[in-house]
Amino acid sequence: MMQEKDFLWLASYMKDTYGIDLHKKKEIVEGRLEPYLHRNGYVNYQVWMEELKKKTSGRLEKELVDLLTTNHTFFMREFLHFDYMRQVVLPYLKRKEEKRRDLAIWCAAASTGQEPYMIAMLLREYFGLDYDAWDTQVLATDISEEALRKAVKGEYSREQIQELPDQWRRRFLKKMPDGEHFVVTDDIKSQVIFRKFNLMEAFPFRRKMHVIFLRNVMIYFDAKTKRELLEKIYEQLLPGGYLFIGRTESLERNYVPLEIIQPSIFRKPG
Ligand SMILES: C[S@@+](CC[C@H](N)C(=O)[O-])C[C@H]1O[C@@H](n2cnc3c(N)ncnc32)[C@H](O)[C@@H]1O
Repeated sequence: MMQEKDFLWLASYMKDTYGIDLHKKKEIVEGRLEPYLHRNGYVNYQVWMEELKKKTSGRLEKELVDLLTTNHTFFMREFLHFDYMRQVVLPYLKRKEEKRRDLAIWCAAASTGQEPYMIAMLLREYFGLDYDAWDTQVLATDISEEALRKAVKGEYSREQIQELPDQWRRRFLKKMPDGEHFVVTDDIKSQVIFRKFNLMEAFPFRRKMHVIFLRNVMIYFDAKTKRELLEKIYEQLLPGGYLFIGRTESLERNYVPLEIIQPSIFRKPG
């Protein structure tokens, strides 16, 4: 069992560093940490925490983040956003950026890659023969290195891809030699740049974004963290730019003057 003071230290550390509020999730934290401690030969929480606090190699911290983030995601999640992209956002951007032909789209909690790859598939399909004339590379970030490693590999089981439209499956995924797994084509892979990035940090991106996907990550944050993040997101959006959040999430618009289009779709006036 983890002592209360150790749990509080860990929960505060996760919240201060990554925004993830675990204060009410002691059971989940223990459920994930205990097998890890056991596997790695730590006799108790204290020994492990002392090593973690020393921050000697960064490995323990990285593994902690991998353990305590929830990377659950899937293809076709909240497809209404992709429909909205196809019907409204992309036609608008195609007109607006006709001269520069350069889009800036950021998937800010990309997890194991399904979401940014779908964005890339949609762009590929939408721009059709014009595709090569446009720069549509998607920036995809996450804090979990393990999730990002899987994302870069782009390998998914038959079950994981089954909800994708047939046409996309055939066009954008290749069957692997085992016959049970599928890998995203190099063409689609080359359209997504994966980077490790902690949303709690100041945004280092020079470019303002046309579209930001920030789906199903704010649910782990407390109100203050969410507010500070939204202020940065607002600044990072171009005027007229769009923000998508998860459908079960809410956004406190007293802090940022985003226009609401649907409960999970917002737009920066401009
Ligand atoms: C539940 S997944 C959501 C994935 C995808 N956006 C979706 O909607 O299916 C949440 C992701 O947010 C990431 N995350 C949590 N805190 C983060 C932070 N401070 N900075 C960047 N990513 C974070 C986690 O690692 C995890 O992969």
